[in-house]
Amino acid sequence: MATRKKKSKSRIKALRYVRKQLNPLKIASPNGELVLALKTRLGRLYRGDCEDFFKTVPSDSVDMVFADPPFNLDKKYPSKMNDNIREEDYLVWQRSWLLESARVLKPGGSLFLWNLPRWNIHAAAALYGALTFRHWIAVDVKFSLPISGRLYPSHYSLLYFCKGPKPKTFHPDRLPMPVCPKCFSDLRDYGGYKDRMNPKGVNLPDVWTDIPPVRHAKYKRRTGANELSLKLLDRVIEMSTDPGDLVLDPFGGAGTTYIASELKGRHWMGVEVGPSEDIVSRFERIGEEREFLEKIRGGCNHLFLPKVANERNKRGLWTTQSIQDSKTSSKQAELSFGDRERELAPESEYRTAGKKSN
Ligand SMILES: C[S@@+](CC[C@H](N)C(=O)[O-])C[C@H]1O[C@@H](n2cnc3c(N)ncnc32)[C@H](O)[C@@H]1O
Repeated sequence: MATRKKKSKSRIKALRYVRKQLNPLKIASPNGELVLALKTRLGRLYRGDCEDFFKTVPSDSVDMVFADPPFNLDKKYPSKMNDNIREEDYLVWQRSWLLESARVLKPGGSLFLWNLPRWNIHAAAALYGALTFRHWIAVDVKFSLPISGRLYPSHYSLLYFCKGPKPKTFHPDRLPMPVCPKCFSDLRDYGGYKDRMNPKGVNLPDVWTDIPPVRHAKYKRRTGANELSLKLLDRVIEMSTDPGDLVLDPFGGAGTTYIASELKGRHWMGVEVGPSEDIVSRFERIGEEREFLEKIRGGCNHLFLPKVANERNKRGLWTTQSIQDSKTSSKQAELSFGDRERELAPESEYRTAGKKSN
């Protein structure tokens, strides 16, 4: 009797295992049902599986997709989903929802995909022919752990694609010029080009070193989800959408994309396979996030932030203002030199000079 019980227990275990392998990331909605978990002024969040969700989204209807899927690193998510499946299964699954993302994008719409370089290299291949590659953005990872026998992993990959030859919306933020945090001097030699620097800041590069990890308990909204920084979502949304556009994120997590979209006046839609209480409570305290976002926006599109400009002024280092001032004073000097010349030259002489220059 005991051995029969043991046998049937192990059979159930084996069956469960096989089911997980066949349908590894579908656990919350085995029948494909989606439950509305949150409705806000601008968006809707469903509880369910992203592939079932995509089936409800019309083709060519979304302005931007942002996706931050599980990395298959055996992480324990609140949904208790299996984050340790066979590599082949992960790639098949990834390809399937990526092609769905491409389908729902409007012509000129953008897709951003956050993952480890190891998975994104396959993602880029899967999207070949469906979307146009724009950038592989390397986002600096702080505090990652070394892996024996490998190079020290120090970036996440943020893939950026668009539908059709070029994006319909592209207005990347400009960033402050990097300076030494201690003495505020230039980190690069701008030589004779200082006066040509855009007062709104330097061009956004494809290596981002200024995205903080969300590690501190004070800022983390949810234990167990790899919550991304609001700064990252702010930048991506700002770059690829306009107010009133529609953003879709198929992996809700702690809801960073939805919060950023709501605050920035974009419509949004999303789905999360696991519990969504954390996202809901985050929306209840959205005022705190608004302040943070305003702070982030205040740091964009200035060559020097006021504090840095002040420190540089004190140290006699050039600033946008000092370049402007020296341009104005050299113009004035040129003008007054011209006046003196005119005063000294006899009338007939500069009449002839005028004719010559014509
Ligand atoms: C890395 S987290 C996303 C974090 C999110 N970007 C943020 O900043 O808060 C990935 C999320 O995807 C969810 N997920 C995994 N498989 C899913 C599926 N098939 N459909 C919908 N959500 C899924 C997980 O439960 C997890 O919360």
